Amino acid sequence: MARSSTQFKEKCGPWALIAGGSEGIGGAYASALAERGLNIALVARRPELLESKATELERQFGIETRTIELDLASPQLMDVVSEKTQDIEIGFLVYNAGLASVGAFFDSTIEDELARLDINCRGPLSLTYHLGRKMIERKRGGIILMSSGAGLRGSPYYSHYAATKAYNIVLAESLWYEFKPYSVDVLACIAGMTSSPGLKGSMDEKGMAKGAYVMTPEQVVSEALRALGKQPSIITGKPNQRTMLLLGSMPRKKAVAEMGKHAIKNFLGGKRPPQFQ
Ligand SMILES: NC(=O)c1ccc[n+]([C@@H]2O[C@H](COP(=O)([O-])OP(=O)(O)OC[C@H]3O[C@@H](n4cnc5c(N)ncnc54)[C@H](OP(=O)(O)O)[C@@H]3O)[C@@H](O)[C@H]2O)c1
Repeated sequence: MARSSTQFKEKCGPWALIAGGSEGIGGAYASALAERGLNIALVARRPELLESKATELERQFGIETRTIELDLASPQLMDVVSEKTQDIEIGFLVYNAGLASVGAFFDSTIEDELARLDINCRGPLSLTYHLGRKMIERKRGGIILMSSGAGLRGSPYYSHYAATKAYNIVLAESLWYEFKPYSVDVLACIAGMTSSPGLKGSMDEKGMAKGAYVMTPEQVVSEALRALGKQPSIITGKPNQRTMLLLGSMPRKKAVAEMGKHAIKNFLGGKRPPQFQ
């Protein structure tokens, strides 16, 4: 049975923290959680976007907001978040931000890949550890870690991004079971292509194929919040679920090759990119 907003707020309020919440899928989480009556703390880098999202949430839903201008790759992540949220009770965490890209493995620098590890893995681990501990003590709360269909198996040309997304799936699914007796719901949200600024910024320029199935951020968030508490993970979108089921039924080498072909067709202009330019 679906939870009412009051029940949701009692279990997961009074504050939600959204890491990467000023636009795109993260912005849609912020709106959906504010609609359920939660106050919202937003973490992101660009101050103008943070402020305009916070103002929109306050006006539209009459809730309180807090903005934290911070790069999630920062080694000071936990110090800054702890200092800025020490006076509020955070009952819900969404770790949304992810550094995505598609291309040959050697198309990026080791520094970029280490930043990806920080944003996509160290960030969710740190915030889940810090905020999750308090949720366990209170015996209520919720955590969503954003992941991707690329994280379900080897995904050529997204290789390291895919590996970081596998990390989030395994962490969230494991904690789903561990935290259940404490009434803390954990979910891995495994999204497919979603029309966020993030998708456009990282991938459009490589030439996305026409006719690809793309969800809206609101659709992804609505499916994730519906699945929360009921299952360890959700693949959003029926067509994505069918594709992943089909890939799961194939021998591993064929499924991994299909993921490579998908990247080449959808994002790389139909050609395997060389490892070195
Ligand atoms: N979009 C897709 O097609 C797709 C597909 C599969 C999975 N996903 C997953 O869904 C999640 C959202 O992805 P998205 O690309 O669509 O992004 P998005 O939801 O558009 O989120 C971007 C948000 O994160 C913030 N952000 C990005 N990097 C940050 C950093 N280093 N530090 C602090 N804040 C940061 C952005 O603000 P600032 O830039 O101002 O910091 C913005 O608020 C990711 O985890 C991604 O792996 C997305």
